[in-house]
Amino acid sequence: MNLDELLEHAQKELSAVTSADQVEAFRIKYLGTKGLLKAAGDQLKILPNDQKRQYGSKLNAVKQTVQNSYDQAKAGLGQRAGATDARIDITEPGRISFDDYHPGSLHIIHQTIDALTELFGRMGFSVAQGPELEDEFHNFEALNVPRQHPARDPLDNFYLQRPSGAAPLMLRSQTSSVQIRVLESQKPPVRIVAPGRVYRPDTVDATHSFMFHQIEGLVVDQHITMVDLKTCIDQFAKAFFGADVETRFRPSFFPFTEPSAEFDVRFHYADGTSKWVELGGCGMVDPNVLQTVHIDPEQYTGFAFGLGIERIAMRKHGIEDIRLLFENDVRFLSQF
Ligand code: DAH
Repeated sequence: MNLDELLEHAQKELSAVTSADQVEAFRIKYLGTKGLLKAAGDQLKILPNDQKRQYGSKLNAVKQTVQNSYDQAKAGLGQRAGATDARIDITEPGRISFDDYHPGSLHIIHQTIDALTELFGRMGFSVAQGPELEDEFHNFEALNVPRQHPARDPLDNFYLQRPSGAAPLMLRSQTSSVQIRVLESQKPPVRIVAPGRVYRPDTVDATHSFMFHQIEGLVVDQHITMVDLKTCIDQFAKAFFGADVETRFRPSFFPFTEPSAEFDVRFHYADGTSKWVELGGCGMVDPNVLQTVHIDPEQYTGFAFGLGIERIAMRKHGIEDIRLLFENDVRFLSQF
């Protein structure tokens, strides 16, 4: 092949390349150390001396042309490749395999609330809600907690900074506030549970958090007695924790119930031991509370109870540190 033919072939081949691989193959074929131009250079040595000069300069020109054309082809391809890379096909499946694919799930607190409301739903309770940002009337006053009561200490509650003269607002410290919200808007018979967040400035440790969840229960109707309360709590505990648990009531005091009690659940363990665990507070709705919301305590009575949801979730799943519930470490959350 003479130099003219070589150049012609090279141009023709280059004009047809469409991929980086083809450009590289071209480089090897023509410009490589064992390529056609190298071979053409070797021809120079065996030419008669009078032809060497002419052939040599022509060879240099051809080499230069092929090199330039090659450089251009390579650059042009790079640009086009760059352009295609920038287009992302969002319909492509991800690279992650389905074994590594973890769909989200409800947080364990949420799961516990769902289980509780479902269970109380079967016992005839509907779900009520109230605001987390409350006034003192609903969080304290109407619940028979007077102004001087230690529970209202600003150091034990999250009060909002308010303009002077404005009515104080606070993050509710108990879901009992929802009792008042419901009784203001609903006439007996009332049968509700109210799950939700409550806030207290406690120092965080394994059993305390400045935010946690409670579920409140309230029943107001004619002829409601303490037997109804005890039956309700006992049925709930057996349905939720298992038929083998027992419940007991200890006299206690809450401003909004009279009489008041705390209730415990006894868990039996495989090794034959058992343990009483405090679960919540309860009592018969104080007549003062009913009067405040314009319900006649001579005609209606009621019972109420409140329990901590974290405590229930932790007990049910053997979790020993409340902080795990709020750190949201996926390694923890994915176990439930
Ligand atoms: N609100 C109480 C607390 O946060 C719990 C409680 C006790 C709720 C007795 C009630 C009740 O409804 O009757 O400690």
